[in-house]
Amino acid sequence: MKTISFCGFKGGTGKTTLAVNCCRYLHYYEEQKVTLLHSDPHQVLSTMAVSQHCAFRIEMVKFGEVDAEQINDYAENDFLIIDCPSSFSADYLLVLPLIDIIIVPFMYTTLDYYKLLGFGQVITKLGIDPGKVTLLPNLYSERLNKESQVEKLLQESPLLGQLPILPGIPRNKPMANLQLGNLIPTELNNIRPAFINIMHKSHFLYGNM
Ligand SMILES: Nc1ncnc2c1ncn2[C@@H]1O[C@H](COP(=O)(O)OP(=O)(O)O)[C@@H](O)[C@H]1O
Ligand SMILES: [Mg+2]
Repeated sequence: MKTISFCGFKGGTGKTTLAVNCCRYLHYYEEQKVTLLHSDPHQVLSTMAVSQHCAFRIEMVKFGEVDAEQINDYAENDFLIIDCPSSFSADYLLVLPLIDIIIVPFMYTTLDYYKLLGFGQVITKLGIDPGKVTLLPNLYSERLNKESQVEKLLQESPLLGQLPILPGIPRNKPMANLQLGNLIPTELNNIRPAFINIMHKSHFLYGNM
């Protein structure tokens, strides 16, 4: 089993949307057994899983209580997807080292850049292999992707500059609320280039499934 987390210290970058779409992609297109863990106290995802057709498991967890033993409880899955909270807490220090592939969605804004720097510092402090970390541009808002100097800042940053950047995710049109069923063709087209890359990385780092 591999663990993939969608992380980062900025809200609204698409962590939840992409974690859900990652599960839909893995379940419906890669035929993988997948469970999604989230720590949303409002339990939006868990409630949706009951009301919508959802063919994979979604569970609410207390983020700080995700430990190696608990992750082992999901060992019969091919993938465990973790939707991480946006705000930094000490719990991150316990959970991050347990994760195989860390995906950080972001937008090309100065604020995102500083939040990414903060995330990078935590990765370094924890001694996590930067090879596990991948940046994922979520290009859904033109307004939020206008700051073109940010690309240069990223490239020139000693830590962030060495992290791979996945193919960006375009805006879903029409803007869809979270869906748990099969991906529609436009959603699939939007995420497939990035997620194929993630699958390759998973094979490369951790061998065949
Ligand atoms: N590629 C996208 N296209 C359209 N809307 C998106 C896209 N990615 C995210 N959104 C929207 O942006 C908002 C924030 O996304 P969300 O996944 O909740 O972010 P986070 O979990 O990082 O706080 C949601 O309303 C979501 O529907
Ligand atoms: Mg979220």
